[in-house]
This record gives sequence, structure tokens and C-alpha cells, in this order.
Amino acid sequence: MSVATARVGSNIAFIKYWGVADASLNIPLSNSISMTLADAHTTTTVAWDDTGTLDTDVFVLDGVRQSAARSQRLTRHLDILRGLAGVTWRAWVTSQNNFPTASGIASSASGFAALTVAGCAALGLELDNTRLSAIARRSSGSASRSLFGGFVEWEQGTSDTDSVAVPLHGPEHWDLRDVVAIVSSEEKKLSSAGGHLLAKSSPLLDGRIAHVDGWLAETRQAIAEREIHRLGPVIELDALAMHSVMMTSTPSLLYWQPGTLEILQAVRRWREEESLAVYFTIDAGPNVHLICEAETAAVVETRLTSLPSVERVIVSRPGPGPQLLDEHLI
Ligand code: DP6
Repeated sequence: MSVATARVGSNIAFIKYWGVADASLNIPLSNSISMTLADAHTTTTVAWDDTGTLDTDVFVLDGVRQSAARSQRLTRHLDILRGLAGVTWRAWVTSQNNFPTASGIASSASGFAALTVAGCAALGLELDNTRLSAIARRSSGSASRSLFGGFVEWEQGTSDTDSVAVPLHGPEHWDLRDVVAIVSSEEKKLSSAGGHLLAKSSPLLDGRIAHVDGWLAETRQAIAEREIHRLGPVIELDALAMHSVMMTSTPSLLYWQPGTLEILQAVRRWREEESLAVYFTIDAGPNVHLICEAETAAVVETRLTSLPSVERVIVSRPGPGPQLLDEHLI
């Protein structure tokens, strides 16, 4: 058995990835910018069976062996790694999230990044993080950004080799917090992969794409200057623009629950009436991520907890890039 274990943080996008120019390679319609998370990570051990004993890949997630149907996306990713190494070995993969799956924190981002890092290391493939970012992207676009710590931009690119993430600033650059308000922990009905394909059916897609370069520039600048009141408005605008595209796709994707809107209204009220420096963003689900500086996080957490529709709150700091661990999960 050739075995390796990696720990990789998930990430929250400030400017979103939504829609694909090339669906088979996951080449996006625009760049996106995210913050890698320290406190929401996936640890994955990949053990390649070079003895030929296993006749299928095995996937154990959070202690539960996954069915063949639920392992399909993993097997397809392992096929890419097998192709790179020129082997036909099956793998035993054990993975653990330190946050609830379907919590609105992207487990596929940290999951596919960790699978890529551990899988390639166990195969003895010596690849830099840029190359690993391209490989992770093939199975989950947002995973490409988790190959770097801190503040990261995924450059759209035009091909399999240049559609990769680049680091903007390390995690120590700005002590932000992602305070996630969970209003529903139900699994989503449609994966983002399906949603990306629908984006082009929205009459609003062109409007978002026409503006996104300006929003990316504003976000880069706000992060460079550590200006929360510059970052906040643009991330809210882009999250609302992405959800407008989702809602106006055919079929329409309506991820929000009543609790989602309750939080958005509350955030604006806290900001307007009490000058609380907190802003929202929302991924493909009903849960809301509140972005603020470290000093504001405790009060934001307390207030969220008191809202009737909030089931639970998870707080994360900016985190490091991938780490290879000596201790394995199997
Ligand atoms: C809304 O294709 O990376 O989170 O299907 O979970 O792998 P998975 O998602 P992915 O799409 C992410 C979409 C997004 C925005 C973002 O993270 O940029």
C-alpha cells in the first residue's frame, strides 16, 4: 500500500464561481476570489492497493462507507490520478470533515483538494500546488482555490493547465472571520455541477459577467488595504447577482429559505442602526456566511444565535494551505 494523508481547508468565495465555459474541464466564466478557512477542513487518507486485492475504490466518509453511487464522483477523480501515474490500482479513501457536511461550508472544495493532495503524494507524483490546483479543479471548481492558504484568486484561464488558483495574500494578512449561520442542514437537491450548466439559461448571466471584472478589482483592492467597508458592499452585490442568476435560470434555482432572508435583513439592520461592520455572502444553499473582522465576530455570533431561524453557528478564521500529515486515518 502506498499511503498519504492530507488536511485541507475549505474556502468561502467573496466573488463567486457560477457557470462554466467548458463543462468537461470546469473552465469557469470568470475569475473568482476566496478566503481559505482554518476551522473547516477535510482530512483524507488515500491508500493505493498495489497488490490488486481491491476490485473497486472504497470511500469511507465521516465513518460511513459510501455506496457505489455516492462514490462515483470520487472514483472519477481517482481515475484522473491513475491516468497521471499510469497505474490501474484501486484506492481505499478515508475522509473526515471537522464540520457538518451540508452545513453551507463547501465540503467538496476541501474534499477534492485533500483527495488530490493525498492521492498524488501517495502515488509519488511530485507536483507543485499550481498543478494540484488544476487537477482538483477538474472535479470541483472551488477545490482549485483550496490549494493555497489565505486569500486566493482562481484565474479563469483558457485551458486545463492555466485555469488555476494563485495566492494573493497569506492567512496572516487580514484577521477576518467567516461566521456561518446554519438555517437548514438538509442536503441540497441539485449539486453545484448541475447548477453551473443552467447559468447560461438566465437572462441575467450576461449582466453579472459584464460587471464581474470590476468587482474582482474592487475585491483585490479591499483585501490588499484590509478595508472591510470596501470589501463588504462588493461581496454582497456579487452574492445577490449570483443568486439572481440562479433564481432566473430555467429551471429556477431558489436556494433561500425564510431564515435566509431573516438574516440578510438583520445584518443590514445591525449595520445601519448600530454601525456593526458585518456583511453577508451566500453560496448554493440557504445558509448565510457573515464576514467581519476578528473583533466583531463574538457579537455577530451572539446575535445570530438569538435569531429564531438559526440552527447553529460555525466560526472560522483564514487558514493555511494544504498540509501533509504523518498520521493516517487507516
Ligand atoms: C456557489 O462546482 O465548486 O459555491 O459542486 O460543491 O463542487 P461543488 O461546487 P463548485 O461550485 C461552487 C459554487 C459556489 C461559489 C464558489 O464557491 O465560488
